[in-house]
Amino acid sequence: MLGERLRVIAALVPLSTRLADIGTDHALLPMYLVEEGTCPQVVAVEKAAGPLQAARKAVRDAGLDRYIDVREGDGLEPLSPGEVDTVVIAGMGGQTIAAVLDQAPAAVIKGVKRLVLQPMNRASALREWLYGHGWRLIDEELVAESRRLYEIIAAEPGEASSPDDVLLELGPLLWKNRHPLLCDHLAGLIEKYTKILEGMDRALASDADKKAEIGARVQRLKEMMKCL
Ligand SMILES: C[S@@+](CC[C@H](N)C(=O)[O-])C[C@H]1O[C@@H](n2cnc3c(N)ncnc32)[C@H](O)[C@@H]1O
Repeated sequence: MLGERLRVIAALVPLSTRLADIGTDHALLPMYLVEEGTCPQVVAVEKAAGPLQAARKAVRDAGLDRYIDVREGDGLEPLSPGEVDTVVIAGMGGQTIAAVLDQAPAAVIKGVKRLVLQPMNRASALREWLYGHGWRLIDEELVAESRRLYEIIAAEPGEASSPDDVLLELGPLLWKNRHPLLCDHLAGLIEKYTKILEGMDRALASDADKKAEIGARVQRLKEMMKCL
């Protein structure tokens, strides 16, 4: 059965879209989307030999070879221009996802109408890349699974001005829409920065400007928490 994280990612994939799942691993998401009737065809891309083999076997065993094309390759390289409308990249670091998008062939990325991204960390770096490269956020989700929170970002082509650093890290739409798990997300960030400040206090020498900056960030996050 598909976990909640992949189920929320799947819910952000438009009906009847031609999808590519980059870093598909066991091809769980493509199989779910085809079986549910969301996607008629999926290209599942994987660069590592083990997961590639696992994806091919899973798709074959499920009798879905006609609908899911498992391709070996790096990022969006194995795709042809105009072949897909939606790209999912899930379960990699935020900077890695940004690098995959940055290195995508221009003719391929040009045809993409929606990105659904789930960074494991550094979501702020990914949001920054999106705002800087002609993508606007259209939805953001938080999912609690296996005792951690996952951020999911949906973006479409379009210009939008970037929010400030704090909102880039928190998620501007998670904040705007007061996501039900926002309180937990804020608490996690406050804890992270409080620990960094405590570490700086223990260190013999620490950068006073950096400390003040982090202190101000903690203060701002606490103010935001009060607004919920
Ligand atoms: C942690 S798994 C995530 C699997 C699945 N997307 C999910 O969210 O459950 C990451 C997968 O992405 C693959 N991967 C990492 N970088 C890649 C790239 N540039 N192109 C294709 N696959 C990649 C890895 O080999 C690995 O199988």
